[in-house]
Amino acid sequence: MNPYLKENSWSIIEESFDPKKHEISESVFSIGNGHMGQRANFEETYSGKSLQGSYMAGVYYPDKTRVGWWKNGYPEYFAKVLNSTNWIGLRIYIDGEELDINKVKITNFVRELNMREGFLKRKFTAYLHEDKGIDIEAVRFVSAADKEIGAVSYQITPFNFNGNLEICSYLDGDIKNTDANYDEKFWEEAAQNAFANRAHVTVRTKKLNFQLCSLMETQIYRDGEKLRISAVPEESSKYAAVNFHADLIQGKTVTIYKYAANVTNRDHEESLLYQAAEEALDKAVTKGFNLLKEEQAEAWKKKWNDSDIVIDGDLSAQQGIRFNIFQLNQTYNGEDARLNIGPKGFTGEKYGGSTYWDTEAYCLPFYLATSDNQTARNLLVYRHNHLGKAKENAAKLGFEKGAFYPMVTMNGEESHNEWEITFEEIHRNGAIAHAIYNFTNYTGNTSYLLDKGVEVLVEISRFWEERVNFVTDKGVYMILGVTGPNEYENNVNNNWYTNRIASWTLEYTLEVLEFIKSEHPQLYREWTGSLALKEKETEKWKDIINRMYYPIEEKKEIFLQQDNFMDKELMHVNELDQKHLPINQNWSWDRILRSCFIKQADVLQGLHFLNHEFDIYTKKRNFDFYEPMTVHESSLSPCVHSILACELGYKEKAYEMYLRTARLDLDNYNNDTEDGCHITSMAGTWMSVVQGFGGMKVIKGVLHFNPLIPDQWDAFSFKVVFRGARLFVHVDKEQITIANEADAAEVFVNSEKVVLEPGRKISISHR
Ligand code: BGC
Repeated sequence: MNPYLKENSWSIIEESFDPKKHEISESVFSIGNGHMGQRANFEETYSGKSLQGSYMAGVYYPDKTRVGWWKNGYPEYFAKVLNSTNWIGLRIYIDGEELDINKVKITNFVRELNMREGFLKRKFTAYLHEDKGIDIEAVRFVSAADKEIGAVSYQITPFNFNGNLEICSYLDGDIKNTDANYDEKFWEEAAQNAFANRAHVTVRTKKLNFQLCSLMETQIYRDGEKLRISAVPEESSKYAAVNFHADLIQGKTVTIYKYAANVTNRDHEESLLYQAAEEALDKAVTKGFNLLKEEQAEAWKKKWNDSDIVIDGDLSAQQGIRFNIFQLNQTYNGEDARLNIGPKGFTGEKYGGSTYWDTEAYCLPFYLATSDNQTARNLLVYRHNHLGKAKENAAKLGFEKGAFYPMVTMNGEESHNEWEITFEEIHRNGAIAHAIYNFTNYTGNTSYLLDKGVEVLVEISRFWEERVNFVTDKGVYMILGVTGPNEYENNVNNNWYTNRIASWTLEYTLEVLEFIKSEHPQLYREWTGSLALKEKETEKWKDIINRMYYPIEEKKEIFLQQDNFMDKELMHVNELDQKHLPINQNWSWDRILRSCFIKQADVLQGLHFLNHEFDIYTKKRNFDFYEPMTVHESSLSPCVHSILACELGYKEKAYEMYLRTARLDLDNYNNDTEDGCHITSMAGTWMSVVQGFGGMKVIKGVLHFNPLIPDQWDAFSFKVVFRGARLFVHVDKEQITIANEADAAEVFVNSEKVVLEPGRKISISHR
């Protein structure tokens, strides 16, 4: 860990250019708007090491699977999000010499990700020669107000010479994914042209016929005045550019404005793609860069108004949490139910940009509490839309009925092929069921449950019914051969978490069916008819619930992670020499699997999800036993531990765990930020503050707060929407204050009931 970013409450700032850190910064300074996003690549040429990355949400490619040892059930293809047309590109030549940041002397380099207003800015001085110095200032954003628009302002000021400037403003659609399994290119040429000050490139994927049409306009100004210079067009396959010549006059600033519209046939008729791009571009050009930037600031103001967290007295923590909230808002906005949240968002290619259980287990609570219901609901609709594929997936693996959701997916099909995960990490089905419960419990809105959720629940329950096996001589149901959330143990029997979430799904499904039967009898008849639900099935579910086997260690009073956990050589992580950590980089897989070390919350994940089922003593016994053996080598791990530690009053541990999640990417904690940021675990950081330190829980539809403030903070505050209420929660060393801006709400603070009328504010001292 080597922090090099300056602490600031609203911006991420890098104050010098270090090529070794360039790819890390490319990830950290990424920008996005839910529709598209890109790494913080330079606009001008950079011949050093870089991952050029521009991504369009939902545009993917089924890449042919590559595995060493094929197993039946593996997907033949798997989807990955596509690295797409680079629309920011500028080639700058001064007196015939190209400005290449890797080759010229650079001073005064400052890069800023302005999170408050949603833009990326870079300033530096470049010396092509000692007597040829230029100041550069580049600003760009992808618009949160107009999702298909991106804009760049690039200023060049020569300060000690007059010279010739040549500008090549280009669109490059000849882009390759670095993670392509067979080093193939996925895009092919559809059309390109350049004319006047505009250029256009449309590319098409070799399979599935995704089309991306990028249209840009470039304008050149000197000291605020538009230059009437004609452009020389340039076209080649998947590429189009416009070239300009201008004089560079000492002390005078040349500004290049580049506006780009990126539209796809996911959103527009194929035959109207170009027209759609033209309309979007015309609108943007008419507004101009400054107005677009103002609109951007306005759109971000609204986002911050809904989701900001303020931490007083700890600048580093403040920056960390804002960075996480910023990235979450950049990645997903709930406008399109075909989209989801990839673990790297728009910041890199690792994990193929696909959907994991991370969405339901970690991201949903953030969107539930900071946006309107529709945003979170669309995450559930996404899974409902994939139900058919999940049933196919179950059938492919030999199940007679039910739905088995993929571990990793883009379009509902499995995109993962490691047997111990693809086939065995079945607990993900439970997280999808739990998300339906979470949404309904939080919002009080049963419409999703009634229209769609019940179908998902029944099909998942059918999967569990078939996946358990009855052990006759013991009279119990078991679940054999699984991988729990802890991926450092494979093919284990009776992973407590899996058994519990499976049985819980059956319990919840039956509860939902009962509810529909009594409250909506007609609908009940319709659903039982269309699902062909038999009493025999629900009776079997009840039997499984009653006779599910749960491994426990009686003397220690803990749930066992799996049947044989106690046979392992048990030791704590702090007994290991530091040189062994992280074990996933230093140990053989065999050694990891035999060890007691736990990658991420497993039993504790269950205590977190089904928190209301367990008393504090049970949570403490299990936390005290498992946490010391946990290496937290998944970025999803520390947040769950932080939340439970808060509940147990373990202030220091909670804070230690919080720090591991909050600045994971800013401080490159896991030494892998160059691959992209850990977007889904960022939602876990939000949970650590709101559910952990804020102690926010929704128990049977009722909101509770039990705050705990870390010693390192003077105060913290956050905003949540809860049903009709909009709450502003402020916690300082003495008390918790809650103000309500909207409908009345009844909440429990430190177990005391308070009614928050609209516009009312209450303060309650800590116990
Ligand atoms: C974790 C999984 C997670 C995946 C994607 C893995 O390292 O173990 O739980 O779904 O990363 O974030």
